[in-house]
Amino acid sequence: MDFLTELRSRLRTALGTLTDAPDAFVDMLKPAQDGKFGDFQANCAMPLGKQLKQSPRDVATTLISKLDVADLCEPPEIAGPGFINFRLKTDRLASETTRLAQDDRLGVAVAAAPRRYILDYSSPNVAKPMHVGHLRGTVIGNALDRILRFLGHNVVSDNHVGDWGTQFGMIIYGYKHFRDDAAYQRDPVAELARMYRLVVNLSDYHDLVANLPKLREKLIPSEAAAAAVKQIAVANPSDKDALRHSKRADQEFADLRNEIASAEKKCATLESNSDMLALAKAHPKIGELARRETAKLHAGDAENKRLWDEFLPKCMAALEVMYQRLGIKFDMALGESWYNPMLPGIVEELKQKNLAVVSDGATCVFVEGNDAPFIVQKADGAYTYATTDLATIKYRVENLHADASLYVVDSRQSEHFQLLFATAKKMGYDKTEFRHVSYGTVLGEDRRPYKTRSGDTIGLESLLDEAVQNARKIVDENSPHLSDADRANVSTLVGMGAIIYADLHHNRDSDYVFNWEKMLATTGDTATYNQYAYARVCGILRKGGVDPQELRSAGHAIELTTPAERALALQLNRFSNALIDVSLDYRPNLLTQYLYETANCFASFYNECPVLTAEPASLRSSRLLLCDATARVLKQGLSLLGIGVAEQM
Ligand code: ARG
Repeated sequence: MDFLTELRSRLRTALGTLTDAPDAFVDMLKPAQDGKFGDFQANCAMPLGKQLKQSPRDVATTLISKLDVADLCEPPEIAGPGFINFRLKTDRLASETTRLAQDDRLGVAVAAAPRRYILDYSSPNVAKPMHVGHLRGTVIGNALDRILRFLGHNVVSDNHVGDWGTQFGMIIYGYKHFRDDAAYQRDPVAELARMYRLVVNLSDYHDLVANLPKLREKLIPSEAAAAAVKQIAVANPSDKDALRHSKRADQEFADLRNEIASAEKKCATLESNSDMLALAKAHPKIGELARRETAKLHAGDAENKRLWDEFLPKCMAALEVMYQRLGIKFDMALGESWYNPMLPGIVEELKQKNLAVVSDGATCVFVEGNDAPFIVQKADGAYTYATTDLATIKYRVENLHADASLYVVDSRQSEHFQLLFATAKKMGYDKTEFRHVSYGTVLGEDRRPYKTRSGDTIGLESLLDEAVQNARKIVDENSPHLSDADRANVSTLVGMGAIIYADLHHNRDSDYVFNWEKMLATTGDTATYNQYAYARVCGILRKGGVDPQELRSAGHAIELTTPAERALALQLNRFSNALIDVSLDYRPNLLTQYLYETANCFASFYNECPVLTAEPASLRSSRLLLCDATARVLKQGLSLLGIGVAEQM
């Protein structure tokens, strides 16, 4: 039973007799920090006392007299200035745990009012292979997909792939000029990726060469400016502003020097390769020409459209391989190109509703409080990412009837989504919850975006391969008793699990540092630790010759005879609440946290309570049933994160 939700609901009723606005106080009932004083604690009597101009202890006394919790708890107690402590009746906790242990859904109710969620996630720009930057959006989205579905919501997952952007002009240009036919026959996607990188490299090179003189020109004035403000700061040592200005100017000068050094290094690298240099010389206008290929594609050029039709399915198939490895299925993948026919209508509608204006030739929506315009059509007539996203909203609301539309996308796009949602509201889409479920960056040990030693992006495929290889070393060491095939299987589960869990267990808003050792550790907050806990329980049942199905249906009752059993039972009953917490603000880390605590509770229980040798038989069955329920919660929870388990490790 979700005791927390139940107690809060009872508290709401009691609060209703004291205040018209009980909701603000209900959430002040929380799991207790320290089990010594009970299982739950409410601290609402303090703020309520202030509001009612009564002493908090008196308010607490009144609240308790109105609270009807006798079937769940021992009589609540007042502590300190007015905390109310609740201790569940042990026999009620035991009977609810028995029920949970026999329930297919482990006590997780199906949402009484299911919502229709459109979940936009992963959504890579195709035409280049997925890389480490796609990891977060993909695994966070998948976890939310699974959790919301398990809670009984109606979820439509949509991979909103970027299949119409400038990257296609680049591969079209590459295909026309740099194609290696044999390589393209062998592995078309790899060859497309090679050509894409080549075009980007050459075009970046020309941009850098063109830009360097301008940067160098700024060097002397920037140094002079830094020296000037420094002089002021030195002359006025107590002037904090002057010091700040001086520091900022120093930083700007240092940044400029770094920018120049890095540009020079990139140019020198390319120039040191005579083939590349020759290509660069032969294609001086490559950036502009690649953009022109994109424009031709958008204008319906037959040749470019034919190439696009040829490339796209190949790119999508390559993505599919990654999704299969990660156990991900989308309900649909309506890419940007799919919305093309709707774009003129969107701009028309915005103009008609007087929401868009033409500014410097571009059609823009201006949103109060934002200086940046939301450009829906550029001066050259091209539609934008913004136009497509407005069309997407129209489709999702009008045709898919979304109650909520979630965008699991990098936090660097937060301004885009702010403007998008504000514009959608102006267009009349004000009943749908729009949410940018944003996330931070995966960093290397140097705290910069995670790259290879030579500075290249890390492909997702090689990252997953490496994870499995690293896991294999650990599994070989820890599990010599397993067959080769079993160790290979376990290594896949452990390696993939490690990467997924390491990502999800961070608060999604923060950046995190990628660290193989930490994520594969067998102790601590890792997938591996949880997977081992699961396998340990399976091992106990196996050793005892217990058939889990029979155990569940035999009508055994759980008895809670020690604090460790009680703590584990309480924890298992929190599963439902942990999932609901995830769904409130779309935070899968609340589930990893819960699973880690569950595995820890199990470890304490297993330390203190013999299971197979427990007597009498009823206690042995009770403990076995607790073990089995723990394993099922861990397995279900990990599976909701997209992580598998093995019965033997
Ligand atoms: N393709 C975009 C990118 O790689 C992300 C798309 C996210 N979804 C959306 N509806 N804007 O940046």
